[in-house]
Amino acid sequence: MTDRLTFLFEGRAIEGRPGQSLAGALHAAGIRTLSWSGKYRRPRGLRCGTGVCPGCVLAVDGLGGVQACMTPARGGEDVRRIRPWLAWLPVDPLGRFAPAGFHGSRWLHSPRVWNLIERVLARLAGQAPIPRPENVPVQAGAAGFELRAVDLLIIGAGETGLTAAIGGARAGRSILLVDRDDTPGGRLLGELGGRDAADRLAAAARTAGVEILLSATALGSFDDGVQGIVHAGRLLAVAAGETRNATGSLDREVALPDGDRPGVMLASAVRRLVVREGVRPGFRAVIVETGPLDEDLVTLLAGAGTEVVARCAPSDVRAIHGRGAVRGITIGSLRIPCDLVVIAAGRRPADELARQTDVPEEPRVAAWT
Ligand code: FES
Repeated sequence: MTDRLTFLFEGRAIEGRPGQSLAGALHAAGIRTLSWSGKYRRPRGLRCGTGVCPGCVLAVDGLGGVQACMTPARGGEDVRRIRPWLAWLPVDPLGRFAPAGFHGSRWLHSPRVWNLIERVLARLAGQAPIPRPENVPVQAGAAGFELRAVDLLIIGAGETGLTAAIGGARAGRSILLVDRDDTPGGRLLGELGGRDAADRLAAAARTAGVEILLSATALGSFDDGVQGIVHAGRLLAVAAGETRNATGSLDREVALPDGDRPGVMLASAVRRLVVREGVRPGFRAVIVETGPLDEDLVTLLAGAGTEVVARCAPSDVRAIHGRGAVRGITIGSLRIPCDLVVIAAGRRPADELARQTDVPEEPRVAAWT
């Protein structure tokens, strides 16, 4: 098996390695801008590395809306950025014509008009066009739907999910363990030596009879406790005797001036690049941190050949320089050249799914019913 693969990025051949994500391979090739923000068209790039931000959305083989950090490079694919219509238009000053609430307040009473406007706005905003049928992996319909029943559904194949699944399977229960990543292990995969521990746990789970479904996204809870899972273009409706969320935690975000520039990354993205993808995240890094200092991250960066040139609190940051990529940061009155700003602000529970069940139903809007 070859240890290199090649895919096309806007006509340019990019080399990657098996197991690397598209985002990792592009980062290694020096490509920082992957998308533009919807309203102001600010350049965006790899930021979270965990599939929860809009920064790395690309089109792959004509199919838009693909998160590059969650998509393994396989070789031979045609990868492109999704450019907005009229890219030259200075949209910042025009933003006042589409303020927050614009769509709800003016067009709600005419769904047909809104539907038309929405399509135009989506293209102006650089969102993916609706794909052609031949580019959709599996068409909706009977072939794309499956009903499953299990004793226990566990969402999240990190250490906690794997351990719970092993215990459940050994107790004789049928277990379905799903994770949106293509590799089980969760946060272990971002720790030195964690991959071995993750592989051992996954092997033990499979031996115990756990079915592990990867690259599978849990959509949420529906009537009678049925869980919707999307996997390989199919919708699974899973009727589980019990469902457990083992979705772990995510990096906390911090607001910084121009903190959305490509090259400003959350700690998890940096860990992913270094440990999992074997990619140097930058040459000169500044760590913006809160709470307990993450010395492990500093060691990790040093091992990858990235020099940590400064560490500071978010309130010390006056400006982040560069547009399509970070060129420097101003801390207090001192401007420091760097190509990477790492936000290490601790973690928060990834409880979006869990909170769904407590959220009251949205009142229906008469015009839409
Ligand atoms: S979703 Fe890929 S970087 Fe955030």
